[in-house]
Amino acid sequence: MIDNIKKRFPVFEKNPDLVFFDTAASALKVDSMINAITECYSYEYANIHRGIYDLSSKLTKRYEDSRLAVSKFIDSPSSKNIIFTKSATEGINLVSSCLSASYLDDGDEVLVTSLEHHANLVPWHLVSKKIKIISANIMPNGELDYKDLLEKITSKTKLLSITHMSNVTGSITKFEEIKTKLKKLNIPILIDGCQYVPHNKLKISDLDPDFYVFSAHKLYGPSGLGILYMKDKWIDKFGPYQGGGSMIKNVETQSSTYLDGYEKFEAGTPPIAQVIGLSSSLDFISNVGLDKIYEFENSLTKYAYDKMKKINDMIIYGDFKNQTSIISFNVKGIHFNDLAVFLDKKNIAIRTGHHCAQPFMKYFNISGNARISFGIYNSREDIDYFIETLDELKNFFKQ
Ligand SMILES: Cc1ncc(COP(=O)(O)O)c(C=O)c1O
Repeated sequence: MIDNIKKRFPVFEKNPDLVFFDTAASALKVDSMINAITECYSYEYANIHRGIYDLSSKLTKRYEDSRLAVSKFIDSPSSKNIIFTKSATEGINLVSSCLSASYLDDGDEVLVTSLEHHANLVPWHLVSKKIKIISANIMPNGELDYKDLLEKITSKTKLLSITHMSNVTGSITKFEEIKTKLKKLNIPILIDGCQYVPHNKLKISDLDPDFYVFSAHKLYGPSGLGILYMKDKWIDKFGPYQGGGSMIKNVETQSSTYLDGYEKFEAGTPPIAQVIGLSSSLDFISNVGLDKIYEFENSLTKYAYDKMKKINDMIIYGDFKNQTSIISFNVKGIHFNDLAVFLDKKNIAIRTGHHCAQPFMKYFNISGNARISFGIYNSREDIDYFIETLDELKNFFKQ
């Protein structure tokens, strides 16, 4: 375990025996982030970007400093490429809607994969144009079929929208060959980094995507906030996604003109306290160090995987060559929900169901599975206890 880290998470004060294995859904909350939000609402709060009084201008500065902190965290060339949304889901909806308005035509192909979260599928189903959604396959070991994906990138492809790390298997996408092919054909890419960013250092300048989304609540940060990185050329090309205050140059009753930069995508009062809170949780992560976090969580994942694969009747989805922090599985003869209820009685919180990834489940012909996922507060002791409890559970269901 990372020394004393659990003390930074107040939830364990009230639930000292909790083994929390659902970080992939949403991470537990770190004390400094909670304090930053409490202080913001208690002592610093005013609406931003409008007031010229002291409280408002100070909070506006903190809000924009947080944008800078986010941009440094992912190594973005400028904070002007960072757009705050209410969720990563909204970030993808923003992109799909703007691309539909100004880039996609009927019959164009948008390429996705069968590993995607619904947040990276449904927004493409909703676009106003009649686009064709092409999906790259997965393989029997749960990995992305790279050969199939590369073959499906053709001159008809108008966008690749793909996960950076699967929320079902924890598998990390290898981008080298994909990027080479996309570059050759001048095809833009959207990357869904919701699972990647909390566990690995993201260097957006190396990866160089057109769009990249992730969510604050998976980073030990607040809910209600997503981050969308967008390249300048798209910021310039796109019109607004929503209309309202804070995004206009001039308004008449019949028409309006809009701001040019990221501001045109942030209509209305933004999630002010959440943005301040996110900056605090990013500080926390940076102080621990993402290299250390990756190494720690990776060794935890291998430790759990080695123990789980020795259990009879265990089916694990994924091949663990390039996976981290997430293991999804089924135990033959036991429904995943029965398993979750049994574990819950023993204070182990896991996720079961389709994990918003029904195409993955359909490929394996299952309605769902069980998923354990790790965060900074987990330990080998948690895993030992989980494995013991699985043994108990198997005996219980045998009776
Ligand atoms: C891979 C992936 N993409 C997208 C999302 C959606 O994120 P949010 O619910 O924060 O919008 C999730 C959430 O679980 C996810 O795991």
